Amino acid sequence: MDIGIPKEIKPHEYRVSATPGAVKALVLSGHRVFVESTAGVASGFPDSIYQEQGAVIVPNAAEAWNQPIVIKVKEPVEQEYAYLREDLLLFTYLHLAADRPLTEALLAAGTTGIAYETVQRVDGSLPLLTPMSEVAGRMAPQVGAYHLEKFLGGRGVLLGGVPGVQAGNVVILGGGVVGTNAAKIAIGLGAQVTILDISHDRLQYLDDIFGGRLQSLASNPANIAEAIQGADLLIGAVLVPGGRAPQLVTREMLKTMKPGCVIVDVAVDQGGCIESSHPTTHDDPTFVVDEVVHYGVTNMPGAVPHTSTTALSNQTLPYVLKLAGNQWSALRNDRDLQMGLNTYRGQLTYSAVGEALGIDTVAPSQALEHEGITV
Ligand SMILES: NC(=O)c1ccc[n+]([C@@H]2O[C@H](COP(=O)([O-])OP(=O)(O)OC[C@H]3O[C@@H](n4cnc5c(N)ncnc54)[C@H](O)[C@@H]3O)[C@@H](O)[C@H]2O)c1
Repeated sequence: MDIGIPKEIKPHEYRVSATPGAVKALVLSGHRVFVESTAGVASGFPDSIYQEQGAVIVPNAAEAWNQPIVIKVKEPVEQEYAYLREDLLLFTYLHLAADRPLTEALLAAGTTGIAYETVQRVDGSLPLLTPMSEVAGRMAPQVGAYHLEKFLGGRGVLLGGVPGVQAGNVVILGGGVVGTNAAKIAIGLGAQVTILDISHDRLQYLDDIFGGRLQSLASNPANIAEAIQGADLLIGAVLVPGGRAPQLVTREMLKTMKPGCVIVDVAVDQGGCIESSHPTTHDDPTFVVDEVVHYGVTNMPGAVPHTSTTALSNQTLPYVLKLAGNQWSALRNDRDLQMGLNTYRGQLTYSAVGEALGIDTVAPSQALEHEGITV
């Protein structure tokens, strides 16, 4: 099977979808891998290293996109819609629930879209979201602490405090992978940390691992309203798999927050869990509403590509090997991959996306009947 690796073109996106090591594993399994020239440079992988591992370097995006399977990092941006077509299997982050134009483009083109973020194991875990959530979670207190500096519009609070001075308050909505990793770093900085989740099991787990170093709270409107009033840094980290994030902090509630406090809405890629947040880029990461600094970068891990590219490629490789080995039977035999199927031959196959966008969906099993596949 031939596989294309285009260079990412989203602003300040420096990751690439496969390391040279992953390319070698694919080549050793009998596949050809076409890497767009300079695709890996920003992650520390020049063309020469890919060539040494057996990749074919192609001079432009069109030649990488022209392969039957394309592996990417971020969802296609508008300039890339022209490459979508029916005989293309696209394996990447898609985040369709928050992106009607892309959903419509994929459906109109008939592209098979498998979204990293909805590939799901039987135990409910999301193996291809996890590595990037770990990175974004660990970055969130770091970028939040930075934007709390006065000259950037923040309150001028040092999260760790100093002897004799109170530490900053970090409130985290959602105690999953992002939330837990954010808590680890915030606690490491010396901040006071409160984490809210609707899952009691999750709160129990957090209480067990962090003990008295973290306050766990049941997520409900009253607790959220009270917690955000004391926050210096609020981190949005909730997820409804594949669906739009619930808006837990309304415009009215925002007015109760301290002037100069910072919100890092990591969940912004799924629409955001703060009503006033919207997507931003690494070029211009923040904006201010009601004196509250909002950070809404949708591809936070793109800023630390050395770490992120390798973390992502480690996790996607086993699935890429299955898809390249035999894409249709891989979809039939691998339940994790079936859960990742979002679009197929003009049909939407992920119900949470359909609910978010008001588009009819069909079950993957029904959609795949085209291929005579019973799943
Ligand atoms: N901006 C970025 O660069 C970036 C990078 C990685 C992940 N993300 C996003 O971060 C978000 C979180 O991802 P994750 O991997 O931590 O997900 P996860 O599934 O591990 O955790 C989500 C948590 O949210 C909790 N939750 C759901 N509804 C809630 C509510 N109403 N109140 C409180 N908690 C609630 C769930 O119980 C779960 O524990 C996702 O939207 C993901 O796409 C963004």
